[in-house]
Amino acid sequence: MTTVLLERKMPHVALLRLNRPEARNALSPELRLELREHFLSLSCDDTCRAIVITGDMRAFAAGADIKAMADMTPAQMMAQGDEQNWAAISQCLKPVIAAVNGYALGGGCELAMHGDIIVAGESAKFGQPEVRLGIMPGAGGTQRLTRSIGKYRAMKMLLTGSTMSATEAHAAGLVSEVVPDDEVVDAALAIASRIAAMPPLAVAEIKRVALSGMDLPLDAALMLERRAAYLLFGTEDKTIAMRAFVEKKTPTFSGR
Ligand code: HXC
Repeated sequence: MTTVLLERKMPHVALLRLNRPEARNALSPELRLELREHFLSLSCDDTCRAIVITGDMRAFAAGADIKAMADMTPAQMMAQGDEQNWAAISQCLKPVIAAVNGYALGGGCELAMHGDIIVAGESAKFGQPEVRLGIMPGAGGTQRLTRSIGKYRAMKMLLTGSTMSATEAHAAGLVSEVVPDDEVVDAALAIASRIAAMPPLAVAEIKRVALSGMDLPLDAALMLERRAAYLLFGTEDKTIAMRAFVEKKTPTFSGR
């Protein structure tokens, strides 16, 4: 069975749906591989300018597949090369919007945090419950959560395995927008569609600089920003956009 479904509902936007409803979309090795293949292929697909990733109403994803992991040794975990699966998502320069309904736990919460924007339904729940299983997050949970919501709230979640509601996550800065549950995917698609209408090279540079800059000293990050900003003055879309502004017309971008 296909564990990740690709839908193209509107121009330039790809929608990826995790499809293991019977296991609360737990991230089995097969699913992670399929996700990686989709991201690698969408990364170099010029017809895709933004990606929405979602699960179903009950779960965005309940984390790594515990049944598949229960008997695994450290060597088997290493041999999986799972970091390559995650890298395909984190290195994708197309904006990624996580549309979260239900549980986003463990690897599911980490997957949501691979998004650049997180739209959550009112009933969504976020958490890193790995500690309860005698393990710990392995796909950025200790780092991305701490950077997103700060040490003290993150530590409480990481060390107790407690969950956070969508409203709490929004207040803490983990979620971009909270909407009624049945509007989550449409709200995420609407944001994706707005991004897809922007000049793609500018979008890609903004994503690259915003993310890379977070891990650099401010001076280096500002230098990176300045260089990228100047570079965009060489694009056809900059000429199209500025001319359209002056002539009071709607621009159509070329992606060059
Ligand atoms: C495998 C899972 C699963 C998971 C749910 N299921 N989560 N299977 N891996 N992570 C399966 C259940 O076994 C069950 O299968 C079916 O999905 C429905 O689950 P229920 O528990 O009956 O549903 P519900 O009562 O709605 O509770 C949902 C839930 C709960 C709160 C999400 O299932 C749960 O707590 N899941 C585990 C969450 C978790 O601990 N995640 C972190 C995983 S570790 P059957 O066959 O019984 O119907 C991780 C990082 C690993 O992500 C890092 C390694 C380096």
